[in-house]
Amino acid sequence: MSHWKVHRAPVIQTEIEVPGDKSISHRAVFIAALANGPCVIRGFLTSDDCLATVEAMRSLGVQIDHPEPTTLVVHGTRKQLTPPDGDIYCGNSGTTMRLLAGILAAQPFKSRLTGDASLSKRPMKRIIEPLTEMGAKITTEGPKNTPPLVIEGAKPHPIQYFMPVASAQVKSAILLAGLFAKGRTSITEPSQSRDHTERMLTYFLVRPQRDDLTVSITGEQTPESRDFTVPGDISSAAFWLVAAAAQPRSHLLVKGVGLNKTRTGVLGVLLRMGASVHEIEKDEEGEPWGSVEIEGARLKGTVIQGKEIPNVIDEIPILAVAGALALGTTIIADAKELRVKETDRLAAIAINLKAMGVEVTEQEDGLEIIGGAPLRGARLQSFGDHRIAMAFAIAGLFAEGETIIEDVDCVATSYPGFYKTLEQVMKPTREPQIPVIGALPSHEAM
Ligand code: S3P
Repeated sequence: MSHWKVHRAPVIQTEIEVPGDKSISHRAVFIAALANGPCVIRGFLTSDDCLATVEAMRSLGVQIDHPEPTTLVVHGTRKQLTPPDGDIYCGNSGTTMRLLAGILAAQPFKSRLTGDASLSKRPMKRIIEPLTEMGAKITTEGPKNTPPLVIEGAKPHPIQYFMPVASAQVKSAILLAGLFAKGRTSITEPSQSRDHTERMLTYFLVRPQRDDLTVSITGEQTPESRDFTVPGDISSAAFWLVAAAAQPRSHLLVKGVGLNKTRTGVLGVLLRMGASVHEIEKDEEGEPWGSVEIEGARLKGTVIQGKEIPNVIDEIPILAVAGALALGTTIIADAKELRVKETDRLAAIAINLKAMGVEVTEQEDGLEIIGGAPLRGARLQSFGDHRIAMAFAIAGLFAEGETIIEDVDCVATSYPGFYKTLEQVMKPTREPQIPVIGALPSHEAM
């Protein structure tokens, strides 16, 4: 198992691009595979999680060519999948397992989905309930409604479903099953989660409808094949955005990144904490994307809670690090979902912050972090969770002495090139490479 050594970084003055969005890459493969012809997907995130989705769809008879590192050609099957030869292995990827379960719930065959040790502990009842209501027979082989999942699909009935938890994975599983149903399926969320599935279906000319927190889809439609370009992942950009935001005189431009409003909560939080943040939206074809420019400051503590949580769900580890670097108290609440991510992220964050000398109190649904004390370099665990590994590598850039992050192979699930950029950031200061804020047309984030 590999580890990283991290030391204090100079002021960041650079521009970067980040790899393709993970959530969007998964959806592009799933929906293109159901379309009525070939789709070229550019900007695809070639990470372990998204490759698990590619392999899963290949095992269901979908031809997927991979002519260049970030380009796929998915040959749509007109929703005609074939039974897999054996188990479908989803690796560490909750998105692969849950979205695929939606598609498989609608197939006239049986499949068995497995995952690694972390995925085998993640809750599946949230998808089993609605998909069972739609007519599938799903059993779990794990102890607490946990994987492996055995799915016996059937022609789905349309349902009206009220989701108890705001989860884009659950919503997407139901929408994908709903694509095969006769009639209209609708899903109401308690608060808005990321809307990439709805957008991607719209882009492929299946038109789900949104009415406030309810999304509906009329089934028995086939997506129209179209080429698609995946924007950079704002959740990957978030690590560098915080690294720059927390250091006065830092100045970072992230180019070609997704700016979907259901994902950019991190920008609003950093703005509230005192950083100068500008979004420069360039285009919107399927998904909005553009550049983000950020200038560092002495950050101040903030409160992150309620409806904002689904919008920053994957950024909590790095925002907790921002909280530790900020003056005053940062409170994170209503974030119980973090306990069932790739690891129990609330516990992992608290353990690692404490090891770095930060005063932090763990609550059932959040954290209270007393920021502003100097960080101490430490030997830290990733807990096999990519976002914990990367968040604490960024913390190491601000610490006195060396920080070692153990077991970093997990980072390949979402951001294989992360360490290369980290090495660049740790090099002694270069000349500024980007124009000053204000020289670019911009609007304030949020
Ligand atoms: C994702 C949704 C979120 C997020 C995960 C990716 C998606 O999970 O945490 O990393 O692609 O739909 P939940 O749907 O469980 O909130």
